Amino acid sequence: MKEVRISLVGFGIVGHGVLEVVRRKRELLRNMGLDLKVVSVTDITGTLLDEKGIDPERLHGLKTLEGIANLGIIGKEAIRDVDSDLVVEVTPTNIVHGQPGLGHIEEALSLGKHVVTSNKGPLVVAFNHLQELAQDNGVMLKYEATVGGTMPLISLIEKNLVGNEVLSIRGIFNGTCNYILTRMMEEKYTYSYALTEAQELGIAEADPAYDVDGIDTAGKVVILANSVFGMDAKYSDVAVTGIRDITPEALNLAWERGYLIKLIGEVPALKVKPMLVPRRSPLAVGGTLNVASIETDLSGTITVTGLGAGSIETASAIVSDVVSIYTTRQIDD
Ligand SMILES: NC(=O)c1ccc[n+]([C@@H]2O[C@H](COP(=O)([O-])OP(=O)(O)OC[C@H]3O[C@@H](n4cnc5c(N)ncnc54)[C@H](OP(=O)(O)O)[C@@H]3O)[C@@H](O)[C@H]2O)c1
Repeated sequence: MKEVRISLVGFGIVGHGVLEVVRRKRELLRNMGLDLKVVSVTDITGTLLDEKGIDPERLHGLKTLEGIANLGIIGKEAIRDVDSDLVVEVTPTNIVHGQPGLGHIEEALSLGKHVVTSNKGPLVVAFNHLQELAQDNGVMLKYEATVGGTMPLISLIEKNLVGNEVLSIRGIFNGTCNYILTRMMEEKYTYSYALTEAQELGIAEADPAYDVDGIDTAGKVVILANSVFGMDAKYSDVAVTGIRDITPEALNLAWERGYLIKLIGEVPALKVKPMLVPRRSPLAVGGTLNVASIETDLSGTITVTGLGAGSIETASAIVSDVVSIYTTRQIDD
């Protein structure tokens, strides 16, 4: 049995999901020969350490570690001082400077710890630097959950489409925008009414700019460009138009001609903009779903769809990445 000692950094929606998925799948993982132990959880109030593995029941219903943390260290210090094999980094995203996640990931990789993250910021800002750091230290950096949540995209390309040249990826990478456009289309809502509904349902943030202005989608386009196409793309290389100016009339006109309007991200074109999508196209998914069509030289076009967000869904992608680190064999020379 391979014991994997995990430090969880970030104790929000995704952090809670990771604890829950590790708990729920303990037996399944053990049957695969993996004993995943979350030995520490860190948030901005401190770190809870338990060398024997933290019982998620202990943290059930808690929003922060305040009053329960037994170490007064956070951030890089917590990553350094806790004896772990792997860091799961799930702090808030900032795609301008990447912090605090960027510092956390650099620290972990430099110390020879694997990293699995759902945090786009560090990868948008410094993808190639972080991959080099991982390689130099003989560890892996995995980030499936940063693009499309639970929708297997990067692992699908790396594992199942191996040998194919990926020619392009086009898709819907933001569930909030997809929800708003779907409701405008189906219910004839105005943009602001659909946005308010999404906010009331917790699908959109109070400040929705990150989603509706296409910033989140552009971040995902940068990650795909650098990881799948080996580019050195920056956020500023992406031409971005959001969905604020879409009207019910435009959606209706498109519908009458057999189309939907969707916010589409394109790689390697590095474009994010509302585009016409044929109603019968595999990209024509509704609600909060994400979708990606991968055009390849050998396999034609493969389309994958799934939930782009959610506590358990995102955690599922994270735990899959953790498992793949320990089950992927490297071919020796
Ligand atoms: N939620 C999803 O469905 C989803 C899907 C895909 C990707 N993601 C990405 O995954 C990451 C986590 O998302 P989330 O929804 O779980 O966010 P969240 O609910 O805001 O949780 C983030 C957690 O990190 C903590 N934190 C902030 N600064 C920290 C620091 N310096 N050290 C340690 N902890 C710190 C926050 O504490 P405070 O709240 O006290 O500040 C909070 O507990 C984000 O980067 C997000 O973009 C989320």
